[in-house]
Amino acid sequence: MPIGITALGAYTPERVLTNTDLEGMFETSDEWIVSRTGIRERHLSADGEFASDMGVRAVRDLQDRYPDVLDGVDLVVCATSSPDAYFPSTAALVAGQVGLAGAGALDVSVACSGFVYALSVAQGMIMGGTARKVLVLGAEVLSKIVDWQDRTTCILFGDGAGAAIVEDVPDGYGFQSFVLGADSAGGSSLYKFAVADRIPGVPVGTGNAMLGMNGREVFKFAVRVLGDSGEQALGKAGLKGSDIDWLIPHQANVRIIESACSRFGVSLDKTVINLDRYGNTSTASVPLALREALDDGRVKDGDQLLLVAFGGGLSWGASAMRW
Ligand code: ACO
Repeated sequence: MPIGITALGAYTPERVLTNTDLEGMFETSDEWIVSRTGIRERHLSADGEFASDMGVRAVRDLQDRYPDVLDGVDLVVCATSSPDAYFPSTAALVAGQVGLAGAGALDVSVACSGFVYALSVAQGMIMGGTARKVLVLGAEVLSKIVDWQDRTTCILFGDGAGAAIVEDVPDGYGFQSFVLGADSAGGSSLYKFAVADRIPGVPVGTGNAMLGMNGREVFKFAVRVLGDSGEQALGKAGLKGSDIDWLIPHQANVRIIESACSRFGVSLDKTVINLDRYGNTSTASVPLALREALDDGRVKDGDQLLLVAFGGGLSWGASAMRW
């Protein structure tokens, strides 16, 4: 039996921070941010709201759309780069608040590639017989780990969450392939310290206590890896770029997405882009984009999708799937 996503929910907090608002905070301009990134505004969590709160709201959205959707969930996997705590896991915190206490719960830490990784974890758990029905979350409050004095990083990120149910699906639907990868040789280009204030490539005592990033290095890596991993995922599934109905990329920078489109020969109007309104929401970006494309009728039953993501690690994840 193939395995795939049978339900999807999403949430972004109400508070919106526009590029014009940022102009009042430090030396920048709407024109600079839009031309370099495509981002116009982002949604930010309130003080006292954290990743688990984002995740719970996304699950509430899921329940509003699909009544009784949590019945039978026996595992919760949460991808997050901004967890409430080292432990308990954000997955366990969300599970406890949505009536899933007792289900298995674990976090997946692969920065912005995390949602694709978490889907593959869910698939593997079901294939191995450990779980039957998995709640997969991407839940983030990146706004709480960026340095708001650092104009090269804080302009990029926003908060939000996605929630998906992964389980058996009918023949002809679901996941066709996964490609996952990581290489710590680039770890110093994008990092957030935890217990140790050292990362290979970041000399001790010289790092950023908040999210540290070398934007140009991440940009070059992303352009290469989105194309490579997407092509590998298509190849593993016996597909080619012309088979894609919708490309669902991680929403980091419209110029990175454009380069992936040209690599696959997919036009921009067959690519879901919503970073202009949400910025980079890390693990929430792929489910937010997919949910939007389902709501407005772009993605339809049976469509061929390619999910591609990249992030800290440096890491990458891609999946071919039929919706
Ligand atoms: N407003 C105005 N000027 C700025 C700003 C800003 N917000 N930020 C930087 N600048 C200036 C720089 O200081 C620099 O000035 P200088 O030439 O006088 O030194 C100039 O603009 C150019 O800076 P660059 O860093 O070269 O700009 P670039 O074109 O590379 O764009 C950006 C920067 C947008 C960060 C780009 O490199 C990028 O998007 N990289 C990918 C980052 C990314 O996707 N990160 C998330 C990964 S996912 C995850 O796991 C979290």
